[in-house]
Amino acid sequence: MLRIDIITVLPELLEGPLNCSIIQRARDKQLVDINIHSLRDYSTDLRHRRVDDYAFGFSAGMVLQIEPVDRIITHLCSQRNYDEIIYTSPDGEKFNQGLANQLSLKQNLIILCGHYKGIDHRIREHLISKEISIGDYVLTGGELAAAVMTDCVVRLIPGALGDEQSALSDSFQDKLLAPPIYTRPADYKGWKVPDILLSGNQRKIQEWEMEQSLDRTRLLRPDLLDE
Ligand code: ADE
Repeated sequence: MLRIDIITVLPELLEGPLNCSIIQRARDKQLVDINIHSLRDYSTDLRHRRVDDYAFGFSAGMVLQIEPVDRIITHLCSQRNYDEIIYTSPDGEKFNQGLANQLSLKQNLIILCGHYKGIDHRIREHLISKEISIGDYVLTGGELAAAVMTDCVVRLIPGALGDEQSALSDSFQDKLLAPPIYTRPADYKGWKVPDILLSGNQRKIQEWEMEQSLDRTRLLRPDLLDE
């Protein structure tokens, strides 16, 4: 079973997204073991549970300290081997479906959520094996990035989605956008479902879906075809 340990100063930001719907069901079915750790529990400051301190040099603001991070990572690594210790940061490798596929095949992952104040660079040099960005924009912290990555990885685990086919036929899974889909009624205010889908001819329908995928990809995301 895939185990994901997420280290954060804001556990409450992760509880919601990872305690609901398909991800919650995957956890209930024991397809994934997600553990959210509050970094403050590893603070060296018993009284105020602080995990940040002033930056050296002239930069303003506070910086996440190395010691609490080292303490929790050392604690986790004493219990099992981790395939990757990931830090969420806009500097990192860009997250995409291929990376999600790779991570979904791992056994044990740690995700250290970045912090708007920045973290002591020695954490990145000595404790982290991979930095991942979810896109070229800046979030206030890494929690939402960790939630995005976890959601994307967990739904790929066999059995997480009701219909096992559906993860495979996603947009991006084969570098093509998904074809349009419809449900009843077949005619709503004169807006009609394409006739082909009502024909019952499976081969024709599959051909139509492939054409639609290609057309939509050429039109909306031609960059995917270049790759
Ligand atoms: N932290 C802040 N911005 C981020 C991003 N784009 N991806 C991952 N972590 C981040």
